[in-house]
Amino acid sequence: MRRTALIGVLGAFLLAGAGATAAHDGAHPSATPAPSVKRPGAGYFPNVELLTQDGRAVRFYDDLLKGKSVAIAFMFTSCQDVCPLETANMVQLRRQLGERAGKDIHLYSISIDPQTDTPAALKAYAEKFGADWTFLTGQPEDIKLIGKKLGMIRDRDKPTSRESHHGAILMIGDEPTGQWTRNSAVDNPRFLAARIGTFLGWRDNAPQRSYAEAKPLTLDNGQRLFQSKCSACHSIGRGDRLGPDLAGVTDRRERAWLASYIADSGKMREQGDAVAIALHNKYKKIGMPYLALGSSDIADLISYLQTRSTPQ
Ligand code: HEC
Repeated sequence: MRRTALIGVLGAFLLAGAGATAAHDGAHPSATPAPSVKRPGAGYFPNVELLTQDGRAVRFYDDLLKGKSVAIAFMFTSCQDVCPLETANMVQLRRQLGERAGKDIHLYSISIDPQTDTPAALKAYAEKFGADWTFLTGQPEDIKLIGKKLGMIRDRDKPTSRESHHGAILMIGDEPTGQWTRNSAVDNPRFLAARIGTFLGWRDNAPQRSYAEAKPLTLDNGQRLFQSKCSACHSIGRGDRLGPDLAGVTDRRERAWLASYIADSGKMREQGDAVAIALHNKYKKIGMPYLALGSSDIADLISYLQTRSTPQ
């Protein structure tokens, strides 16, 4: 009861189909589901065969979902924009989850470009990011079906194009209770971890602080952008993460170079910029992602890096 109420507060929803049944049958969506209510389960999710990054064959329902709590994201290894940020953020989330990961909650990254993403390609990608959870590939039509059943891929989506990528969604689900909730995969990892704990009813979960408390309105635009779009990969003065420590970057690089680089580092490499190429070769070729930032956001980010880098 307690847990169902909490879930109600979070605005969790049941998946399409089974969800509709529950909402219309039951007098109250937040009431404890009657045993007769159909939930997304064995008959709902396809039990298709997928391959892990180690080349192990697994069944989607039987091996990955049944009886488990899960967090599922879609990605593809050649994605230059949101996926690297998403995966980097999931690495931070994985860290927050600590020992619960792989036990109380299973993380899955499923490739939506399965023809390119062989198990070996996924393994190399996971290793580059230091990701220790399960990456999956399979038959394109099977993966599309999984995406549709999870409500993460729509028919009209061309998921692997830069213009309409798959959105950075992290679906959190608890198969035994049939409860699912949709989150942004690029949300602050500490909040994501807390939200998952609340959703799954973990008892020793740290109390969840509200956004209002955690993000004071005084946060300037540059700082806010840095936290949401850069800090999964960069620190300022706390050492390298997936990308270089950005302390002092405004001293070691020209402002115009920084602006072009933050706008589209891939393009600079294509144009033969020696510094961009050297950086790329040094940092395991993860690549500074294309984040589609406007010029005023980039200016705010550079000012923020400047204030944080200036020696006191
Ligand atoms: C997915 C991880 C990731 C994210 C997110 C990311 N970066 Fe990077 N960044 C890198 C990597 C990796 C490099 C090293 C170059 C490369 O591999 O291409 C880099 C390099 C840089 C450099 C060059 C550093 C130097 O020494 O000259 C700057 C500046 C930079 N990033 C700024 C940003 C900013 C600003 C954001 C947020 C708007 C951001 N990055 C988001 C991974 C990331």
